[in-house]
Amino acid sequence: MIRSALLATTAMFLLTACTGSAPDTKEAASAEKPAATFAAVDDNRIKTASAGEEWLSYGGTYDEQRHSTLTQINKENVGELGVAWSYDLATNRGVESTPIVVDGVMYVTSAWSIVYALDAKTGEELWVHEPDVDRSMAIKACCDVVNRGVAVYDGKVFVGVIDGRLQALDAKTGKLEWSVVTVDQDKPYTITGAPRVVDGKVLIGNGGAELGVRGYVSAYDTDTGKKVWRFYTVPNPNKQPDGEASDDAFVKVGNVSWGDTGKWTTEGGGGTVWDSIVYDEVNDRVIFGVGNGSPWNWERRDPSGKDNLFLSSIVAVDADTGEYAWHFQTTPGDTWDYTATQTIILADLPLGENGASRRVAMQAPKNGFFYVIDAGTGEFIHAKNFVPQNWAEGLDESGRPIVTAEARDQSVPHFQTPGPLGAHNWHPMAFSPELNLAYIPAQELPQAYVVDPLAESSPTKWNTGVDFAAGIPTEFTPEIRKMVRSTLKGRLIAWDPIKNEERWAVEHNNAWNGGVLSTAGGLVFQGQLEGEFAAYDAATGEKLWASDVRSGAASGPGTFMIDGEQYVTITTGWGSAYALSAGYAYDQKVESTVGKVVTFKVGGEKELPPVQMVQRDLTPKAASFGTAEQIQSGLVHYSRNCMVCHGPFVQSSGVLPDLRWSEYSGDKELWDEVLHDGALQENGMVSFADVLSDEEMENVRAYVLNQAHSDVNTN
Ligand code: HEC
Repeated sequence: MIRSALLATTAMFLLTACTGSAPDTKEAASAEKPAATFAAVDDNRIKTASAGEEWLSYGGTYDEQRHSTLTQINKENVGELGVAWSYDLATNRGVESTPIVVDGVMYVTSAWSIVYALDAKTGEELWVHEPDVDRSMAIKACCDVVNRGVAVYDGKVFVGVIDGRLQALDAKTGKLEWSVVTVDQDKPYTITGAPRVVDGKVLIGNGGAELGVRGYVSAYDTDTGKKVWRFYTVPNPNKQPDGEASDDAFVKVGNVSWGDTGKWTTEGGGGTVWDSIVYDEVNDRVIFGVGNGSPWNWERRDPSGKDNLFLSSIVAVDADTGEYAWHFQTTPGDTWDYTATQTIILADLPLGENGASRRVAMQAPKNGFFYVIDAGTGEFIHAKNFVPQNWAEGLDESGRPIVTAEARDQSVPHFQTPGPLGAHNWHPMAFSPELNLAYIPAQELPQAYVVDPLAESSPTKWNTGVDFAAGIPTEFTPEIRKMVRSTLKGRLIAWDPIKNEERWAVEHNNAWNGGVLSTAGGLVFQGQLEGEFAAYDAATGEKLWASDVRSGAASGPGTFMIDGEQYVTITTGWGSAYALSAGYAYDQKVESTVGKVVTFKVGGEKELPPVQMVQRDLTPKAASFGTAEQIQSGLVHYSRNCMVCHGPFVQSSGVLPDLRWSEYSGDKELWDEVLHDGALQENGMVSFADVLSDEEMENVRAYVLNQAHSDVNTN
């Protein structure tokens, strides 16, 4: 029971999409202006110059291999790397941004979709763009108010804003050129992913499948912000045409893969395109990864038992029109939050007939298998699990998983790995075309899946249909912490996609480790959430250098060269889905820190400022109260409504206020002002009056204070 409990708690997150046709509201029209001379990035420059001296697109190149051709920093001198400069990002929330570097300027984003332009050589701030988000919308963000970065093209910087806007900024000044609303803002959509740009179009998806939306990816004109095409990933609830690029795909293959009843017909079905979007220049197609179903639970979503295209799929469409080309579904009938939104990398590998070169797409999605498929047709080539897994007996010849009966049956908890945080999440994977190795930031985070018995009777803002309170005891003890901790694992894996096997692996201390950068210097760089940023020998995994960046190092690093000197940059920050929902499980807890941009070079001598550890008063502000029934009810409603931000067992990650020691928990009136009246909604803590009765709110308070008194010495 406890085992299943804990897992239930370690997870969550994901993102997804929408329903109905979204308004494309224009906020500011673009003025007539001459062609850009600054950040004059076009397709050719991305094709020929990126991931060399500059880093012009999210994944480095269109193939998104995150492999730099720079060799100045190499196995011989990497040990001499030191800090060249650092810059404070004004947030203690999650930072996931890959730096883009063009014309000597670095563009990064931080929480709340704020964009920073910095001098890439010195770190000097050039401008900051604050999109003025109504912070009460943070409740829609499953996985913290993060942002993974910008795209740069034709003198403009493009950013997806957490509230669903897509904005174009003048690359030189940061001035807003245009802004469009890409989602129905009455629905729980978010944007956390980086836009991609190709041939005058900026591509953007969205998230929200934990709360209930219908997913899609759209292309907008880079000049005007006018929508060019949209591809929905789940059929219209009536299976009627939307008048969008995806209509044909649903007629051909999509509609028959859904029944006619179930929550998908009212709540959107999920399938958000919240991260991976790549451009296949050989076939002139956009290939994107699609997220989980909404609600997660398949039976509730669609009782017909059908595959539910294009959930958990890789989909290819024509880059100009968005017209469907092919798809490959990694997890038919997804019921575990197994998104296929993870990094998609394109490469040419000797996997054709008689070892001929074949263009492939590679992905290590949440479900734990590493897939190699044909980039031209979507045909399955091969796949193998890269972490231990217990949900499938294996894959059939077409790559379809043979799902175990235990994993399918959610009437009793099944302790399963991977869990919903995945064997691999958003942390970018890399690929070395020199060694033909993919580098996966892999993890083992099991969870028990069981149907939420209150799904019909008690509303929640999160809407997964899965019981997050299953088996959780009302008391939290050091033994439970130890047990939970022992289930959380992470490693860097070098995977041979030709032989379909692991080449080497480096074990880390915990999960949720950083994205990877590969370089022609024979190195791979990766950070860990505990703050170590390291370089490994790309061929062997031997650790050659490490530095403590004193905050979570989870984002994708970048490298570039200015005035003959090579630099390596990582953006850091504690926060994000894992810190919020499992941050307490760190042995040496990473305190809530201000995120940073940290740039290294050979011989760099700057010191990072020491982390200011917060001195916390661990005294509960009030006596505990409540009957066993009240406390149990509080646990259930806490787990369904609060855990994703305030931590399971009320174990805070240090990012948000710790409810156990809060003034608000000790005073019913203050509690009601926050929980009922929404007194702190401007800071991202909204009212829960729409989902919790007064009695349930008070029961949650009883549970919180009970935790405060039962657990004073364990944090
Ligand atoms: C989407 C994330 C999120 C969820 C879900 C959430 N909170 Fe919060 N909560 C916050 C944030 C952010 C703050 C800090 C607000 C501020 O800085 O004023 C906060 C603050 C609070 C505070 C004030 C604490 C203090 O000392 O300042 C209380 C009480 C609280 N939350 C209770 C709850 C309860 C109970 C639930 C579940 C019913 C819940 N929260 C769910 C994000 C969340």
